[in-house]
Amino acid sequence: MKQLRLNTIAGFVEKLDRVADIGCDHAYLAIFLKKEKKCTSVIASDIHKNALEMAKKNCQKENVSIPLFLSDGLENLDQEKLNTLIISGMGTNTILHILESVNKKYIQKLILQSNNDLPKLRKKVQKIGYSLTEEKIIYENGHYYVIGKYTKEKRKLNCVEIEYGIYHEENHSYYLYLFNELKGIVKNLPGHFSKKLRLYWKLWLLKRYL
Ligand SMILES: C[S@@+](CC[C@H](N)C(=O)[O-])C[C@H]1O[C@@H](n2cnc3c(N)ncnc32)[C@H](O)[C@@H]1O
Repeated sequence: MKQLRLNTIAGFVEKLDRVADIGCDHAYLAIFLKKEKKCTSVIASDIHKNALEMAKKNCQKENVSIPLFLSDGLENLDQEKLNTLIISGMGTNTILHILESVNKKYIQKLILQSNNDLPKLRKKVQKIGYSLTEEKIIYENGHYYVIGKYTKEKRKLNCVEIEYGIYHEENHSYYLYLFNELKGIVKNLPGHFSKKLRLYWKLWLLKRYL
């Protein structure tokens, strides 16, 4: 697959996974998983009819058969037949809304890529009962993307990990990018002592990774 982000998400999928790609849009990822036989089964869903129609056309074009569902999150999906959810390319609040109805009896693994507020995502997903076990950070088209694998392993993140993920030397340029961003925000923030204090705290935490 051409897109590094989608390829990296696919890298977290394993042979025995029964995957639902929620918010599949054009279904590029689901089609890739199916064609490359990356997992046991794959279904795809989206809340928007137009997206599903594109998905259907793409499946026909690629000559693959993937069950497609019109659904707000997990609403119309049978979780009993699944063990892995992929939710990517959305904001944290949407991802958390979708996860409100996750059935932990069946769903063993979550592969999540949020476009914003990663500390909130890590913290809330941990509260639901899934732990961040692996995270990959990639740079594509001028953006960093953080892709996390969450499982039911009992591993609690510390406060630095909640903010910045599990430390990996290979992510140095990402930490540096975050540090410079934060420094710029602090410098240009007028007044607001308590807001500044929080940002200084975030910078102090981040220094542990630099
Ligand atoms: C930016 S696209 C991302 C597509 C793909 N997952 C990716 O990572 O490239 C977001 C998709 O999520 C869908 N979406 C947003 N909220 C949703 C929800 N509550 N349930 C299902 N799909 C949703 C949108 O319709 C849209 O197609």
